[in-house]
Amino acid sequence: MKLTVDRITQEAPGILAFRLVDPSGAALPSYPPGAHVDVTAPGGIVRQYSLCGDPADRSAYLIAVKLEAASRGGSRSLHADVRAGSILEVGTPRNLFALEPSASEHLLFGAGIGITPLLSMAYALAADGSRYTLHYFARSAADCAFAELLAGEPFASNVRFHYAVQPDGLDTRLDECLAAGSNAAHVYTCGPAPFMDKVVARAAIKRPADAIHLEHFKADPVVSGSGEHAFELKLASSGQLLAVPPGTSIVEVLAEAGIRIDTSCREGICGTCIVPVLDGEPDHRDHCLSKKEKAANDQICACVSRSRTAQLVLDL
Ligand code: FES
Repeated sequence: MKLTVDRITQEAPGILAFRLVDPSGAALPSYPPGAHVDVTAPGGIVRQYSLCGDPADRSAYLIAVKLEAASRGGSRSLHADVRAGSILEVGTPRNLFALEPSASEHLLFGAGIGITPLLSMAYALAADGSRYTLHYFARSAADCAFAELLAGEPFASNVRFHYAVQPDGLDTRLDECLAAGSNAAHVYTCGPAPFMDKVVARAAIKRPADAIHLEHFKADPVVSGSGEHAFELKLASSGQLLAVPPGTSIVEVLAEAGIRIDTSCREGICGTCIVPVLDGEPDHRDHCLSKKEKAANDQICACVSRSRTAQLVLDL
């Protein structure tokens, strides 16, 4: 979709929110809370951003973009090159971070820019009267994006702000937050990897893995070729065999064989490149399949994941 930037607001130091609308004023495709979209920055780089507005509002999408110091052009271009009235190419919403509809309670833990997918979840949970608490960790009140919104109705009584919690105090604070909810509550987290690791570890003490949900924003750097072994792909439809050498991805090997797999992030985050697996054991290196999905071994993120077995049979 080509969408018009209708408004840009500074939500916190280094964080801009972009309101995107259809140029003709048409309603945008609906999306579930937690969904994200691909956005092509004017510099041509595609990045994934969570939709952080009210999912019930089809008149606009809202994304928030943090200017990353190590930006390879995505956030830097959106901050520097986009103005109100600019047109941006935006993909249709996808969701890898869904609310569990059967959960009796939801505990949301966000840190920094990780608040964005949790915001759309909070809108949905508030709208249907669900039991939920949103815990928002930030360096200070001034660093909180959407702080004013979350301090007002309908969120105020369900939001707790946690400022300047030091790493050595995080376990205790998380335990207090988790203890204030029921053990049956599902836990959702988004933020820097060390923060999410802590949330997952503390939540897992009293909860099964499938009650803990997380969304990665940026893949940890993967050194291509490190610890990688060669393996073989077999394409189920034709029986064709393809060798995957260390340092070359499944997507690249398939492309060389004339088989194009749709990709977007190429970092194991967005899920665009997922391919069904019929036999063999994938070496899952992505951040988008859940623990349960990885354990089933029946699909693979072909941009980053590899194989633990000598052969992997793909349903292609
Ligand atoms: S292209 Fe995004 S997960 Fe593979």
